[in-house]
Amino acid sequence: MLNLGGPATLDDVQPFLLELFGDREIIQLPFQRWLGPFIARRRTPKVRGLYANIGGGSPILRYTEAQGRGMVARLDRLSPETAPHKFYVAFRYTRPTSDDALRAMREDGVERAIAFTQYPQFSCSTTGSSLNELWRAAERTGLRDAFRWSLIDRWPVHPGFIEAMTETVREGLNRFAPSVRPKVLVLFSAHSLPLDVIDRGDAYPQEVGASVQRVVESLKAPNPYLLAYQSDVGPVRWLGPSTEQVIRRLGARGQRELLVVPIAFTSDHIETLSELDREYGEVAHEVGITQYERAPALNDRPRFLDALAEIVRDHLGSGAPHSTQYPMRCAGCSNPQCRNILNPVSGPGTPLVRRI
Ligand code: FES
Repeated sequence: MLNLGGPATLDDVQPFLLELFGDREIIQLPFQRWLGPFIARRRTPKVRGLYANIGGGSPILRYTEAQGRGMVARLDRLSPETAPHKFYVAFRYTRPTSDDALRAMREDGVERAIAFTQYPQFSCSTTGSSLNELWRAAERTGLRDAFRWSLIDRWPVHPGFIEAMTETVREGLNRFAPSVRPKVLVLFSAHSLPLDVIDRGDAYPQEVGASVQRVVESLKAPNPYLLAYQSDVGPVRWLGPSTEQVIRRLGARGQRELLVVPIAFTSDHIETLSELDREYGEVAHEVGITQYERAPALNDRPRFLDALAEIVRDHLGSGAPHSTQYPMRCAGCSNPQCRNILNPVSGPGTPLVRRI
């Protein structure tokens, strides 16, 4: 289960930020070896304060483990022929890392592995970066030939994911009185990305848009909706419109009821608990929005655990080593590490992907 991870304690904040701002697959800075650590150190006190306000650390490991447990228990029932199933967590910027996961897999005698991204929508800066790191970790740990791999590299419109997301939006809408509920504007919010990532031809905005569209269709409600992007940081240009600016403009235009929906996160972390709930909640209040709510994150809700198991079952049933989109490198890509797969299982794939 690949994800970015988060600092578990306040002392983990600086090492986490150093890793994040050093990753050229997510953010490319001039003089990155110097500027990355400089930005990380400068932001540490503020970010430590934010984590202190949400209980002293990120809950992402706790939720990922709960999701993993729920997923494999369901999968053993859904797909007994491939049981028993086990899950391992590989975070990109904090422990457990890819090295930790691979070593644990080796100790357990695993032979067949699925690299399952926990980012529903693909981006080279998230899933792509995690996969590149996974293959590097396999070299580093001497486990290059230890496993046969396939990838679940995206699932933006998987019916189980869409149903679980729709459930969260319904719960959010139900927090409004029936008399105002149809007027609530639903603001989907996804993590932003630097514009140079998008300009290379990254699939992320298209896949986030596809998730939003499917959720809205399955919701079958009359509510107007918008998509915006949050959490931009550092001296580069980011994909907009920014969630904060959209909230300000909606307030100025007279919108009074607002439901924000995290569409690209599968569990609560600082972007939901601090940024959406506290920071933007205050902004909403400032600009005259009378009721501001946030739809719950997917976390360990049973429908989402079902969805994770269904996604894996469908993947195993397809026999394919990856999605048909995986080999399609960004038009502007110059990174030879992208879109590789180590020791792939045989199955219907396309010859465009590099097998390493
Ligand atoms: Fe997208 Fe390399 S940056 S495939």
